[in-house]
Amino acid sequence: MTVDHEPAGRGGRSWITEPAPVADHPAPTGDAVGDPDRLGPLRSCLTERVPADPPAPNPVLAMIHSAFLARTVATLVELGVVEELAGRPRSIAELGRILGVAAEPLQQLVRGTAAAGLVRSAGGTGLDEVFALTETGETLREGHPSATRDLVLMLQGADVLDCLRALPERVRRGETGPEVALGRSWFEHVRTEPELAARFDRMMVALHGGEHEAVAAAYDMDWAWNVVDVGGGLGGLTLALLAANDHLTGTVLDLPDVAARAQRTIVRAGYTHRCSTVAGDFFDGVPHGADAYVLASVLHAWSDADCVRILRSVADGLTPGARLLVVENVLPAGDAPHPGRALDLLMAALTHGHERTAEEFRLLLAAAGLRIRSVVPTASAVSVIEAERDPLLG
Ligand SMILES: C[S@@+](CC[C@H](N)C(=O)[O-])C[C@H]1O[C@@H](n2cnc3c(N)ncnc32)[C@H](O)[C@@H]1O
Repeated sequence: MTVDHEPAGRGGRSWITEPAPVADHPAPTGDAVGDPDRLGPLRSCLTERVPADPPAPNPVLAMIHSAFLARTVATLVELGVVEELAGRPRSIAELGRILGVAAEPLQQLVRGTAAAGLVRSAGGTGLDEVFALTETGETLREGHPSATRDLVLMLQGADVLDCLRALPERVRRGETGPEVALGRSWFEHVRTEPELAARFDRMMVALHGGEHEAVAAAYDMDWAWNVVDVGGGLGGLTLALLAANDHLTGTVLDLPDVAARAQRTIVRAGYTHRCSTVAGDFFDGVPHGADAYVLASVLHAWSDADCVRILRSVADGLTPGARLLVVENVLPAGDAPHPGRALDLLMAALTHGHERTAEEFRLLLAAAGLRIRSVVPTASAVSVIEAERDPLLG
C-alpha cells in the first residue's frame, strides 16, 4: 500500500491506494530504485505520481504536538535531568543510573528536546550518547534568574493540568477551571500552600520579567516623584522603574504574604531607601496621594465587573494631576496575531478575565470615571495605557 498525494474525489482516487499498475513496464531488479540510470521506463511512472510540491504540513498537528513537547520538557525538569546535566554533560546510561529511571524512554525524551534546542548531543551513540544543556536548557535550572523552571513546573503542574482537563466543563458551567477542578478561584488556591504561592510569584517573573525593563525604557516617568504598584507582586516592575528613574520612589501593594516576599526582594536588590511595601487588598482601596499608580498584568485576570471595582478603588486614590498606568497586552481588533493571544487562553482556563483591545480598556476605564491620555507601546508585548480622572465622568 502507498500513500497517494492526490486528494480523494479527483479522478476517483483515494488518499491511500494500492500501487498504480505498472504492467507496461518491467519490474525493477536488484538496486534499480537506488540507481537513477537503471530506473528506465519506471521513471516516468514515478514522476507522474510524485507531486512537485511537498504536501503542506497539517497545522492542527503542530498545535496538538506542542502539548507533547511541553509535557516532555516538564518531565525532564521533574525527573531532575536538567539539574544532573547542569555544568556536566552525561550519557543517557549514566543519567538513567543516577536518577534510577529506565534509560530507553529517557533517551527518547532527551532526544526529543535536543531537536527543540534544550540539550545537544556531545558525541557517542545509543545509550552511551552524551548530552549537554544548551543555553536555553540552562534557563530551566533551579535558581536561574529567568524563573523558567517555576513557569514550567507551575503551568505543567497537576493543578493547571487538572484545570485544562476541566476546560469543557468550565465553558459549560461558566465557572473557571480552578472553580470546577479545585473547588476555589485560582488566587484562593495559590494561597493555600506557601510553596505554591511563592512559585506563582516567581512564575510571574518568567511570564512578565522582560516586560518590566521594556516598560521602564519606553515610558517617561520624569513627571512623577512616586509610584504605587497595585498588585505589584514581587515588585519587579517597581524596581525596574526605580532603576531607570533616580528621582522616583516606589510602593508595592499586594496581599500580605506577597507583600512580605516583595519586601525581601527589595532588600536583596538594595532599594529599601527608595521602595517600601504595603499589605492590602486592592478591592478595599489604595494609598491616596501618589503621583502614579500602576496596574500591571492585573486586570487581565479579572472579569469586567471586578475590573471596574479595582479601577474605582484606584480612581478614588487619584488626586488632580495623578495618573494611572495600566500595563497589559493591548490586543489588535480582529484576528491579527499578537503574543497576548496565548496568554488569553491561559486566562480563559484559570480566571474570569481576558486580554483586551484598546476599545475594551477605554470602556472599562470610562466605567470607573477614567479616560485614556495615551497608549505607549514598548519593545515587549505589553503597552502602557496612561489614564487620568475624567472630569466629565466625575
Ligand atoms: C498576575 S500577578 C501580576 C504581578 C505584577 N504586577 C507583575 O506584573 O508581575 C497579579 C497580582 O495581583 C495580586 N492580587 C490578587 N488579588 C489581589 C487583591 N485582592 N489585592 C491586592 N493584590 C492582589 C496577586 O497576589 C499578584 O501578585
